[in-house]
Amino acid sequence: MSAKRIVIAGGSGFIGTALAREFIRRGYGVTVLTRRPRPRYDGVREVAWDGAKAGDWVTELNGAEALINLTGKSINCPHTPENLREITESRVHSVRALAAAANFAQPPRVWVQASATGFYGDTKNNLCAETALNGSDALAKICRDWENAFTTANLPQTRKVTLRIGFVLGRESGALPVLAKLTKFFLGGAVGGGKQYISWIHLADLVQMFVAAVEQEKLVGIFNAVAPNALTNAEFMSELRRALHRPWSPPAPEFAVWLGSKLMGSEASLALVSQRCAPKRFREMNFPFQFTELAAALKDLCAKI
Ligand SMILES: NC(=O)c1ccc[n+]([C@@H]2O[C@H](COP(=O)([O-])OP(=O)(O)OC[C@H]3O[C@@H](n4cnc5c(N)ncnc54)[C@H](OP(=O)(O)O)[C@@H]3O)[C@@H](O)[C@H]2O)c1
Repeated sequence: MSAKRIVIAGGSGFIGTALAREFIRRGYGVTVLTRRPRPRYDGVREVAWDGAKAGDWVTELNGAEALINLTGKSINCPHTPENLREITESRVHSVRALAAAANFAQPPRVWVQASATGFYGDTKNNLCAETALNGSDALAKICRDWENAFTTANLPQTRKVTLRIGFVLGRESGALPVLAKLTKFFLGGAVGGGKQYISWIHLADLVQMFVAAVEQEKLVGIFNAVAPNALTNAEFMSELRRALHRPWSPPAPEFAVWLGSKLMGSEASLALVSQRCAPKRFREMNFPFQFTELAAALKDLCAKI
């Protein structure tokens, strides 16, 4: 019997690379939809698409076990009107194109769609479970449109799961290697007031959440994909300094964050917004978190950074 197939749209990046590795290890066939396919030697097939319209790629979805969609322009850029439009369209258009293609002869059994804890906007100190309201800032609105495109897709034969992903900590990519580098250069102070929450998740736990979403029929609907213990930025940076054996560093005031972000081509609000979220539904199903405490997660990751 041929292996069950998983299609990962936008699977060439940080999270997709880790997912492809794990699903291959579990015996699945993995196809990545990407705008720039290249030959690979790890068992993954890359197939061309443009992330917006139907093309030859639609046949990949026929009879697939699962579709995972991670597609989206990175939010780590200045949030100009033009960039915000691209951030939105790359997400909404890809969902719509996949939904049209999934209505093909034999639709995928399950579709796992990425979203973000940015859905809740600036949560201040309020702890947000999955039922919390949509925020009002630009990224919250983008998440709402992104999720709406998915939930309104008419796919009666496909189980649908949305993962609202937090701040993903990985060794090779994502934000942690950059933060670790700054901290090693004694620039690991609290950011802004330091009171804003960070809802982090270790990449290894996130990967197992995707596996659970694909393999367990009972997962349906929206799940916060975060670790159980969100920390303030000051607590997070203090743990990072400890993991990297660095002393106390002076905090970076807000104006320095704005200036630094401008120089680095990033967006200051990403570091200043508070995101305090709880993985209520994963807790209720006794998801076996490997890393519930940041200190253990950083010890694991920083040992090899
Ligand atoms: N990493 C995090 O901490 C985090 C947190 C919350 C939510 N998320 C969400 O999870 C998803 C995956 O995250 P990631 O960190 O793996 O992101 P990533 O490394 O940037 O990968 C996203 C992929 O989307 C594709 N893409 C980018 N711009 C596109 C565009 N304009 N049109 C079509 N495709 C485009 C790219 O694939 P090709 O260039 O190969 O086409 C890219 O590999 C994203 O939607 C992200 O918003 C991530």
